[in-house]
Amino acid sequence: MSEIKFSVNETIDVHKNTTTKKIDSKYLVIHSPSANWLTLTKEEFFFFYNLQNKLSIKESLVMIYNSLSLCEDKCLSICESVLEKIYNYDFLSKNKGEEEELIENIKKNIQINITSDCNLHCKHCYLSAGKKNRQYLDFIKIKKFISKIDRDKVSDEIVISGGEPLLYKEIFPILKFLRKKNFNIILFTNGTLINESNIKDIAKYVDSIQVSMEGITKEYFEIIRGKNSYSKVMHAIELIKKENIKLVIALTILDSTIDDIENNIDYFCSQLNYDKLEIRLNNVIEKKGNAIKLPNSFFIKSELREEKTENILQKIISNGFSKPSKENRGIKFKNCGIGASIVINQDGLIYPCNDFSFNQGLSIDTDVDVIEYFNQLNRETSYKNIINCNNCDVGFFCCGGCKIKNKLDNGDYKIPTCNKYEIYKKMISRN
Ligand SMILES: C[S@@+](CC[C@H](N)C(=O)[O-])C[C@H]1O[C@@H](n2cnc3c(N)ncnc32)[C@H](O)[C@@H]1O
Ligand code: SF4
Ligand code: SF4
Repeated sequence: MSEIKFSVNETIDVHKNTTTKKIDSKYLVIHSPSANWLTLTKEEFFFFYNLQNKLSIKESLVMIYNSLSLCEDKCLSICESVLEKIYNYDFLSKNKGEEEELIENIKKNIQINITSDCNLHCKHCYLSAGKKNRQYLDFIKIKKFISKIDRDKVSDEIVISGGEPLLYKEIFPILKFLRKKNFNIILFTNGTLINESNIKDIAKYVDSIQVSMEGITKEYFEIIRGKNSYSKVMHAIELIKKENIKLVIALTILDSTIDDIENNIDYFCSQLNYDKLEIRLNNVIEKKGNAIKLPNSFFIKSELREEKTENILQKIISNGFSKPSKENRGIKFKNCGIGASIVINQDGLIYPCNDFSFNQGLSIDTDVDVIEYFNQLNRETSYKNIINCNNCDVGFFCCGGCKIKNKLDNGDYKIPTCNKYEIYKKMISRN
């Protein structure tokens, strides 16, 4: 609050033409033209409404004091909270929101899943990696495909993942090849195969390493990743730190591990004590592969899940291992991102996004211009082209849903399963 300067006699020029939805006990105030929103309590909404109607801060305060039978301190804290939200989320009428860049100008996320083999058999693994169908992408084909890509136009960054990529026989030749092509390389790994004899080579080629966890104490970690895996991963983390490589810990949140993460994340962060660390949360669980066999208790969306996830995120931010995001705010989405990725799987099929269940990939051997093909798919499936979504107040946030889910559920990318109430709830959880 200290950075916000205002005078009590000031009128604040907040967005007008908003729509308000009352969801449970919260008020969601949406300003579609700038792709922005606020989540307010009933009292905060009343205060905000007065500001919106050109009353000064002082007049709005008097108004709530007289109308809501609250003490002065409470009124002041409502006022502070609303002003903080307005300034933090830039909910001011001068903020018009940005147009999203055209798909052809967006740098692609290239991810090569080089194998479906794995030394672990995580209980939630959507790939059932390492158990059956251990495939390895052909090195020659990877080289040929990557050589066709115009790095400067398409992307300067490549993710190498799997399965467990460190099981791929030619992992170092492939990293060397990509490095020669001047790509930044990010390695996704379970960490257990990183040791004293390969860490120097990894450090030579890789710019950043992402290690995955679902629980953060040994007990919960090993329920998912198997016995004796925790100490190996923690050892790998120490080696990564020693080599001064950027480390990302990807925390996939299962309902069975959410309390472990929430209760222990502060201690975990302080123990890691590494300035090149970032912690990312993955809150979307694919019920595929091994995950299908997991009991419901691992997945049932508990009522408190969104709230707990937000709490975990705030803890990570306050520890300095993640930046506050204005997720989706201020950007008028024209697309959901399909085509903004190029995912090459171990079976040689290429996909336009990271969604695992899409089943119409292009072959890595194709003569088709893959980039243009995916760009075209993006343009065609823009929510602006979906009749029912055209005038939707939360279109900038929802973009007509996941296009792949639309296709799988309703047979067409452009037929969404619209559940606005869920969208409103999601927006509320991101305040
Ligand atoms: C498939 S793994 C491949 C890289 C490496 N083996 C690892 O575990 O990080 C990539 C990420 O997918 C996550 N993952 C696995 N199964 C998942 C599922 N059913 N839903 C969501 N994420 C999942 C893992 O936790 C991991 O963070
Ligand atoms: S999540 Fe990663 S480590 Fe676990 S089984 Fe799947 S590929 Fe292997
Ligand atoms: S699917 Fe529904 S909520 Fe989403 S943009 Fe279309 S109309 Fe709006």
